[in-house]
Amino acid sequence: LTPKRLAGTRILVTAGPTLEEIDPVRFISNHSSGKMGYAIARQARLRGAEVTLVTGPTCIAPPLGVDVVRVQSAQQMREAVRERLEKTDVVIKAAAVADYRPKLRAGNKVKKETESLTIELEKNPDILAELGACKGKRILVGFAAETQDLVRNAGVKLEKKNLDMVVANDVSQEGAGFNVDTNIAKLLFRDGRVEELPIMEKEELAGVILEHVEHLRGGERG
Ligand code: C5P
Repeated sequence: LTPKRLAGTRILVTAGPTLEEIDPVRFISNHSSGKMGYAIARQARLRGAEVTLVTGPTCIAPPLGVDVVRVQSAQQMREAVRERLEKTDVVIKAAAVADYRPKLRAGNKVKKETESLTIELEKNPDILAELGACKGKRILVGFAAETQDLVRNAGVKLEKKNLDMVVANDVSQEGAGFNVDTNIAKLLFRDGRVEELPIMEKEELAGVILEHVEHLRGGERG
């Protein structure tokens, strides 16, 4: 039986991709399966936490005993997170939020009348960076999916977004990243520590991440 070390801790996890509509039938999205975030939500619940899972569209079943909030776009995810922030001690942002969305959403299906079509995109809000700017006593954990300069890029995110921990994974490596059951991660901390983890099941990695959250919470309390 897993010890309930996170009993009394309110954890909000985001998971999955976001989906940005172009018109009533088309959208922009990414390859995120939601597996990592769902595993974190499940393992947090097993450790006794009160868990809210804010999820973009996925094909997997959410864990039992978790409050599930379904969203589509980055803007909806931002609202769902912000509404619940007051009642949250730890935010773990495993979602692959779309960086851009179509500037205009067509009210009707776009017809194929021209040889080429340009869709103008505008930047989505960075939800995690916004949380970092009003962090309070909350613990913030981010993910960094990179294909080059993993540790350096992840370190920049930790600083810039004011995070306590970044889970960095090289998504170009086999057995890591999108839509597989395993991941190869490095954990970065504010004091400059980098913990290199071997390839492991996402479920197991979720457990390791939550053990660190327990310690970070312990530091916060003590
Ligand atoms: O996209 P990026 O690599 O900067 O993502 C790093 C972290 O920031 C992830 O935890 C992701 O969920 C979060 N993020 C966010 N809002 C965005 C982009 C990323 O919360 N618009």
